[in-house]
Amino acid sequence: MRKIIFNEKVLEEALAIGKEHLGEGNVADYIPELKKVDPNKIAISVIEDDKYINVGDCEQKFSIQSIIKVILYSLALENYRMDVLKQYVGVKPSAKPFNSVIELELSEKSIPINPFINAGAIVVVALLHGIYGDKTFDAILKKASEFLATDLTYSKEIAESEKASSFANRTLIYLMLSRGILSKNTNVEEVLDTYFKACSILTTTKDLAHMSYCLSNGGKSLNGNRIVTEKEARILRALMATCGTYDYSGDFAIRVGLPAKSGVGGGIVTASEDKYGLAVYSPALDSHGNSYCGVRMLEYLSEKLKLFIY
Ligand code: DON
Repeated sequence: MRKIIFNEKVLEEALAIGKEHLGEGNVADYIPELKKVDPNKIAISVIEDDKYINVGDCEQKFSIQSIIKVILYSLALENYRMDVLKQYVGVKPSAKPFNSVIELELSEKSIPINPFINAGAIVVVALLHGIYGDKTFDAILKKASEFLATDLTYSKEIAESEKASSFANRTLIYLMLSRGILSKNTNVEEVLDTYFKACSILTTTKDLAHMSYCLSNGGKSLNGNRIVTEKEARILRALMATCGTYDYSGDFAIRVGLPAKSGVGGGIVTASEDKYGLAVYSPALDSHGNSYCGVRMLEYLSEKLKLFIY
């Protein structure tokens, strides 16, 4: 484990780099409620030992979106052996967008290729329903609150907006039902409702820095609580490295050099094996669904502080 020293000056420099790119990329528009967000919000949060550094709009709440998929898979790992899980969702990087139907259609037996694309996360939610029943969303919220070290709520407006525009996700879930990946008894509406609520959990970069810290610190939170096992944290980091920014993961590995998970809300949470937490936010996205300014701020920090691990 290396000692990385962050300071406010370098974070302000990274924020300034990010601000130069405001206006590039677009906020997610396929979920109507996400179109309403201010594209000029921008933030970076770091936790290091017990030092917190926050610059920009660190109190700004935004929906966690696909970042929750790391937490969904951590709950799946708690409940299922890896070989069983792999019968439902693979661990291969994706070469297509996160909601691609053709990738699911072409994958072996139509098993979603990883848990971070939408099809994979929906299967994971269906599996969690098999364990937690109608308490599934409560279990997700509890685990997320542990990871992010704060009490969380979700946005009803965003969840409903996702539901009303869920054509792609419905295509994916029905395709998986038709191929037998999901059992015929799957309650489609229940599973999708839980998935939409989970994606609509509200967070800030300050919270996500705790999640980053926990993943990087072998699964232990800043206050020493064990949130996931060391092995689970390692699996999650490996998946973030290979699949966390979808079909941009190779570019991200070169530009930033850290495992990370993005969401269409504009957040990116990183991971490493060094004892710090780092998360960024800015809602305008690149064509892969990753925060445009977020990637550039991380690239600057990585170069400046030698954060890269590859
Ligand atoms: O299901 C969806 O499309 C969204 N709730 C989540 C997608 C997402 O965040 C992709 N990430 N970059």
